[in-house]
Amino acid sequence: MKPPPVAKPPVESEFSLRRVRRDVDEGGASIHELTLRFLTGPKGSNPKLGEYLARNAQTWVGPVEIDIENIETIAGPGKQYHEPEDKWESRVGRILGRFDDLELLPPLIAGVKDDMEGREERSHTLKLVDGAHRLEAIRRKGHKTAWIFVFFSDFESKSDFICEYNKGFYNHNYRALEVEVAAPLNSPAISKGPPKLHSHYRRGHAEKYDAARENQPHWHTEYDAVAQMLSSLRGARILDAPFGTGRFIPIYQRMDCEVFGADISPDMLAQAQLKADRLKMTDMQVIEGNIELCDLPEVDAAVCIRFLNLVPPEAAERVVRNLARAARRQLILHIGTIDEAAIPPEQRAQVLQALDQAQDVQRGNMNYAAQRRSSFMGWCESSGFHLAEAIETQATGVAYNRVEILRFVR
Ligand SMILES: C[S@@+](CC[C@H](N)C(=O)[O-])C[C@H]1O[C@@H](n2cnc3c(N)ncnc32)[C@H](O)[C@@H]1O
Repeated sequence: MKPPPVAKPPVESEFSLRRVRRDVDEGGASIHELTLRFLTGPKGSNPKLGEYLARNAQTWVGPVEIDIENIETIAGPGKQYHEPEDKWESRVGRILGRFDDLELLPPLIAGVKDDMEGREERSHTLKLVDGAHRLEAIRRKGHKTAWIFVFFSDFESKSDFICEYNKGFYNHNYRALEVEVAAPLNSPAISKGPPKLHSHYRRGHAEKYDAARENQPHWHTEYDAVAQMLSSLRGARILDAPFGTGRFIPIYQRMDCEVFGADISPDMLAQAQLKADRLKMTDMQVIEGNIELCDLPEVDAAVCIRFLNLVPPEAAERVVRNLARAARRQLILHIGTIDEAAIPPEQRAQVLQALDQAQDVQRGNMNYAAQRRSSFMGWCESSGFHLAEAIETQATGVAYNRVEILRFVR
């Protein structure tokens, strides 16, 4: 008589959720490198997708738990990437037969559907690019959520996703991604090399800068906050640094202000000049230079939006002090801060460690990271300014992490 077949023990993938979680969370491994190895390595499962991500994935979050109903699949019977029913069933069945513990499976890989398709309205859906069979197995086991690596083509989409996640849009029983909000760790795209802030906003980036952001709710909240804060400065001399594409020119024009716009990118300044020409704004001068150290004109108020979180603390401090030297009366500064005093004691060490790590990553390349609130307040106060007004421009969902525009006066 034949002996009964011995069930093969499941073989844990090198990329199992359990292992990657340990490698990423404890070992600080790069999600980008892990996923590319998984897709394109010797036993790679999807080299074409690997090439796509090498070109398009600038930064990542994960593994993060998502409600299955928020995940759209594009592969399977009758889908965009069609697979015949029998083949689909056999592959899903193989996964179900071998893995009781789904932590032994690799995490799924997805992008934010609306970002990938360039759509303005947020549907809070992730588009699955790898793992359709694994997701089906997870669903058939009766799970309501799955673990995913999410990729982003820019840092702003990533910070939007984190805020949306923390409001419960992607996972109804979410645990806030506190550490991610404090410190979205960068995983530079190895094929391109990490982006540098001073050279990122050139050519196509400059031309598409406004259009790529106009659908962000906080783009408008920031605009309204700047308009409100400038309301007492009719006819004043204003320094806007970095000026970027001059998004606040209509406000300055309405307020009869004389404007100096400083930026390191000639292409962004060219966009600002085009805007001024279109609006027939003549009281404006652009200054090409590094706002950390260049000479700046004496003005009534200095405005700095979407910058102080893209540089490490020492550079942010140099910019705040340089603007404070130029501004006679007011500073209007946009910043995301971590208020150390407000972190629950049991999370304090972990959050501050993650923040230090993110700022360290930032020293080599472009990455969003919060600043310590106490340091930032110290730079302003020791430059002779005190806080007069604060407007929150983006809710982070985490009490000790605020994103605001703050108005300081002498
Ligand atoms: C995210 S954009 C913000 C632009 C604008 N303030 C806004 O709110 O849209 C960052 C800008 O900083 C500029 N920049 C980067 N490093 C700089 C530096 N060291 N000195 C001056 N400008 C810099 C870039 O060229 C880009 O225009």
